[in-house]
Amino acid sequence: MEQLFIDAGYVRENLSPVVCIGLMEEVLKEQDDGSFVQYIRNQTVFPDSNIFGVMPAYSGKYFGAKVLSVYPDNFKRGLPSHQGAILLFEEETGKLIATVDAGMVTKIRTGAVSAVASKYLAVKRPEVLCIIGCGEQGESHIEALSEVFEFSRINLFDMSKDRAYSLMEKACSGKNAVVCNSVEEAAAEADIICTLTPGNTIVLEESMVKKGAHINAVGACAPAKRELSSELVRRSRFFCDNVDSVMKESGDLLYPLHEGLVGEDHILGTIGACINGKTYIRNEDDITVFEALGMAVEDLKCAIYLYEKKRGLL
Ligand SMILES: NC(=O)c1ccc[n+]([C@@H]2O[C@H](COP(=O)([O-])OP(=O)(O)OC[C@H]3O[C@@H](n4cnc5c(N)ncnc54)[C@H](O)[C@@H]3O)[C@@H](O)[C@H]2O)c1
Repeated sequence: MEQLFIDAGYVRENLSPVVCIGLMEEVLKEQDDGSFVQYIRNQTVFPDSNIFGVMPAYSGKYFGAKVLSVYPDNFKRGLPSHQGAILLFEEETGKLIATVDAGMVTKIRTGAVSAVASKYLAVKRPEVLCIIGCGEQGESHIEALSEVFEFSRINLFDMSKDRAYSLMEKACSGKNAVVCNSVEEAAAEADIICTLTPGNTIVLEESMVKKGAHINAVGACAPAKRELSSELVRRSRFFCDNVDSVMKESGDLLYPLHEGLVGEDHILGTIGACINGKTYIRNEDDITVFEALGMAVEDLKCAIYLYEKKRGLL
């Protein structure tokens, strides 16, 4: 059988946020119970800080890897920040069976994972959503989180006001959305805050976050990158997608760890473990953090779904 090529258009049409949220909830659980495995990814950071990454995973019936570049300044060229392919193989024969657009999968699955994490960690009825960094992930997070919660307001902040207004137009039709002048203003009343910047500098401090808020920290995916202040991390109840990756790559945790403000036991667990029954019961004043570095199992799960859908196997 011919290898399938699954382009960004097919991904966008067939991997809706609601479908993807279901897939992500399933795979986070499978990763935690060991039925879907991944290996620590390899990230090469170029002198200009752009990244080339290879992320392998294995599901039993399938295996594969996401191979992608991360160029944070690409929006200036009108190009996506994440580009590449997910290579999907069948386990029985070792044959390459599909090549899937990685940029679109990454965009959609990352918002979906934050939506799942928010379902398990945030207050039951969050009212205000705050988006810091209004690029591709801003769009995907608004779409996915709006499938799980009904927000009365969405606050947008970006260092470029044009980008914030453009996201408002693209993703907030029919919603009560406001472009804010500062992070303080955007975050002040928020029940869920998503930090979606390139992670070049701290964007969120403890004093900006109200008690009871939940933070999806998504932007800082390398040891020298961070979005959260050390004090905010120290004060938080800290969860993640994968403990090994966080200990290796998460500047948000590694800075306070090296400053001696927190220990390794500051990580309370993974979202997969919460789904598998190690339920976290929040106290009213808890500030929770979900640190998302992104996982190969998430990408492979989407690729398998898209492959089986296109082949008519579902
Ligand atoms: N954890 C994961 O699984 C995962 C997946 C995809 C992307 N990411 C990361 O998320 C981040 C955002 O990705 P994207 O594709 O949306 O990028 P993008 O380039 O489309 O958007 C980033 C936005 O952040 C804004 N910004 C930059 N610095 C800022 C600051 N200090 N304050 C406020 N806004 C600021 C930019 O103006 C831009 O609009 C990147 O760092 C990316 O590597 C993580």
